[in-house]
Formats: sequence, structure tokens, C-alpha cells
Amino acid sequence: MGNRRPLIAGNWKMYKTCSEAVETARQLVKLTAAAADVDVMIAPPFTALSVVSEVVKDSNVFLGAQNLFWEKEGAFTGQISAAMLISTGCRHVIIGHSERRQYFGETDETVNKKIRSAIKNDLIPVFCVGETENERESNQTFTVLDKQLHNGLEGFSAGDLETLVIAYEPVWAIGTGKTATSDQAQETHQFLRSLVDKRFGNVLAKSIRILYGGSVKPNNIAELMAMADIDGALVGGASLSAEMFSQIVLYKE
Ligand code: 13P
Repeated sequence: MGNRRPLIAGNWKMYKTCSEAVETARQLVKLTAAAADVDVMIAPPFTALSVVSEVVKDSNVFLGAQNLFWEKEGAFTGQISAAMLISTGCRHVIIGHSERRQYFGETDETVNKKIRSAIKNDLIPVFCVGETENERESNQTFTVLDKQLHNGLEGFSAGDLETLVIAYEPVWAIGTGKTATSDQAQETHQFLRSLVDKRFGNVLAKSIRILYGGSVKPNNIAELMAMADIDGALVGGASLSAEMFSQIVLYKE
């Protein structure tokens, strides 16, 4: 997998109050203190970012958010800007998660604006793409991914995307217990990397990290990570337990 540093990221979605988040983060910091050669990130809900930031600040666990709004500031009730995220200690932000596309009107165009805002503010975007079950069954997986990647990254240069992380999350594998097989995931990751190569060149294609997401658990992480083009994981359900998530982080042990 070249010299790409693996990233194991936990998306907590709409789970955990402030006190629950602090407790889980504390346990996680302890359990992953020995993790070497891997980046670890957790994305709690917005409300818990500040308190979790205090817990992880001297650890090797990075803080991420699950969304942002692209405007700098203004009368946008309910929205959160990149600068606000930075001010809580965030370093990463998940953008374009399929749940946001499905339930909250996220489109390739809004994803593009959000990635632009993240990069401008020195946040690392974790840009999510993935096909639905219907799209996979009708052999449209590659067409759908091509369109999501193309539109999401419209107008950027390779230099803009140095820190960008791509997360491939097949919608049919999220929260369903159905994981893509490691071969299926590898095939798709290789395809995504080839798209980056075509569009942005070989240097970025070689360095960009592509995470797999969708029912990642302690018992399937090692097999996924053994694949040449899988550089980490975006974990939902199993990231809510510090015990389970730390086993995923320590997949090499
Ligand atoms: P699960 O790990 O619960 O399938 O969720 C994956 C996901 O959506 C991470 O962003």
C-alpha cells in the first residue's frame, strides 16, 4: 500500500450525549495509547466536540466533525462553519456521507462547496462516496462513483487535494452487517484511485488515502487492511464502543 499512513476513523453519527462522549473518548485514549503507525480519528456530534477535544488533546486521537456549512458566517440558523469547527479543535470533517445525501438533501454540488470550505480552512475533508444496492445490482457502481468523484472534486487542482481523504461506503453495507468482501472493496478502491490518477495525476493517486466504510468490525478489519488500495476504515456502529473500536485501531496486533 505504498507509504500511505492508515487512518481509522469513527463516525459516531447521532449518538452520545456530552457525558457519554467524554467517557467513550477517555477509554479510547487509554486503549489506543500504544497504537503506532496509524492515525485515529473520532467524529462525535457537534454538541460534544468541545468536551471531547479536552479529552483527546494530548493523545494520538484526532477530532473530526460530521458535517459543516460552507459560508464563513451569517444568518444561517442551525449551521456550523469550518472556523467554528477549528475553534473546537477539529482537524477533520466528514463530507457527503450517504445519510446526509439520503435524508438531508446533500448533493454533489453542496459536497463540492463544503470540500472547498474545509480545505480553505485547513480541515482535512473525509469525502464520502458510494453506490446503493440498486445501483450495484444494475451494474452502475462505477458510473455512480465516477460522477460523485467528478462533481465533488470539480474545480480543484491536485495541489488543493493533498490532504483529502476519500471514504468509499457502499450504501448497502452501512449498518446492515453486510460488508463488501475485501475483493469487492479492493476492486472499487483501485477504480477510485485510477480516477484520481486520470484526473489529478500519479503523485496524488499514489498518496491519497481511500478508506472503506460499511459494517467494519474487529473481525473483518485485518482482511480489509491487507488489500493494496485500502488505507483505512470509516467505522459507524463499532466505533461507539471504545473496546471494539480500539480492537479495530490495533488491527495489526
Ligand atoms: P456502520 O459501520 O455502522 O456500517 O456505518 C458505516 C458508516 O456509515 C460510517 O460512516
